[in-house]
Amino acid sequence: MTGQSELRIGVIGAGGRGGLAAHAHRPEEGVRVVAGADITDAALAQVKERYGPDALATKDYREVLARADIEAVFVTSPDYLHEEHAVEALEAGKAVYLEKPMAITIAGCDRILEAAYRNKRKLYLGHNMRHLAMCIKMKTLIEQGAIGEPKVGWCRHFVGYGGDAYFKDWHADRSKSTGLLLQKGAHDIDILHWLCGGYTKRVVAMGGLTLYDRITDRHDPSERGDASWHLENWPPLSQKGLNPIIDVEDVSMMLMQYDNGVFASYQQCHYAPDGWRNYTIIGTEGRLENFGSVVRLWDQRRDYDPDGDAEFRFEERYGGHGGADPRIVAEFVRYVREGGAIATSPIAARYAVAAGYLATQSLRSGNVPMDVPGLRKEIVAHFDAEVAEREAA
Ligand SMILES: NC(=O)c1ccc[n+]([C@@H]2O[C@H](COP(=O)([O-])OP(=O)(O)OC[C@H]3O[C@@H](n4cnc5c(N)ncnc54)[C@H](O)[C@@H]3O)[C@@H](O)[C@H]2O)c1
Repeated sequence: MTGQSELRIGVIGAGGRGGLAAHAHRPEEGVRVVAGADITDAALAQVKERYGPDALATKDYREVLARADIEAVFVTSPDYLHEEHAVEALEAGKAVYLEKPMAITIAGCDRILEAAYRNKRKLYLGHNMRHLAMCIKMKTLIEQGAIGEPKVGWCRHFVGYGGDAYFKDWHADRSKSTGLLLQKGAHDIDILHWLCGGYTKRVVAMGGLTLYDRITDRHDPSERGDASWHLENWPPLSQKGLNPIIDVEDVSMMLMQYDNGVFASYQQCHYAPDGWRNYTIIGTEGRLENFGSVVRLWDQRRDYDPDGDAEFRFEERYGGHGGADPRIVAEFVRYVREGGAIATSPIAARYAVAAGYLATQSLRSGNVPMDVPGLRKEIVAHFDAEVAEREAA
């Protein structure tokens, strides 16, 4: 135990992704998860198992927020509840760890930013890919000038567990997720923004529901779908127990123009046999691309060589999502207790949602280009000042 007083934490949406909060629970270091809210009995039982019999386990998240001793909360509920849960938590004076995507609409994100600004509370976005060794390697190489100035960013996303994880529950229902270009794409849009140093200002997209609508085996609307991954669920058309409502795309492609002149693209397919993300960033002096556990650099003019001109290995880590989960939680805890620099950004998370949201509108309305609205200048100034303060610390 350090000299600091104990940091007490609550979790809203304690089951599923809410397990992330267990990385923060270190009573011996003065950090304790003391409460969890969820709508299922199973998740509430897990709260007691993980955090002890004294932990509050409740179906009403407001009981967690009413606890004056709780300084920070994880919001790990489904996407369509992020806006309500994050705004209420910030209004209650808590520091918030909010899972991606920030919300399912631009207006929802902007309400959350306004609540953080109004209440002067710490808002931390769970974009854990910024803590992934591969992304850090690419970012470091770009910052070191390996490819000159980034001008083009491409990401191809092979979603190998699409049929298991995204078409059996609320993810498949656009009223609850907007669509998978936003839901899943928020990660990659954020990483492309981060690597290329800008935000999308204009977007255009195409895509459709091309496979999963053909599966007639659906679970009852009263049941929760089983979104767990199974090797034997192959080929994709053999999937069973899909969500009764499926009105999101399983293939989508978007093109982005950034405010710094970069052009980028993101493509996603939900019935790939393997799961992988391939990023290519081209700059004024070369290009980078990731393969398995290496990033390769091409920076000499010659015929194509698959080995590149240099290869950079990155360390595989243990822990959820390649070690990114324990690292992001440790950063959040440190940020709440001591401040200092953080790798993720609420403004960036909002621009990732904005691009994914408008791309979804574009592909559903004749592929027309959509312009991303800016933020109120007071909001930008507030979060810029927070960044400056953290960097000065
Ligand atoms: N960053 C990542 O790598 C990553 C990975 C997985 C999930 N996520 C995000 O985490 C969030 C949750 O995803 P999930 O797959 O665990 O979803 P989920 O459907 O399993 O929901 C999470 C938990 O919230 C609970 N919940 C639902 N309604 C609630 C309510 N009204 N009040 C309190 N709890 C409620 C559920 O019962 C469940 O236990 C999503 O926003 C998702 O995008 C992020």
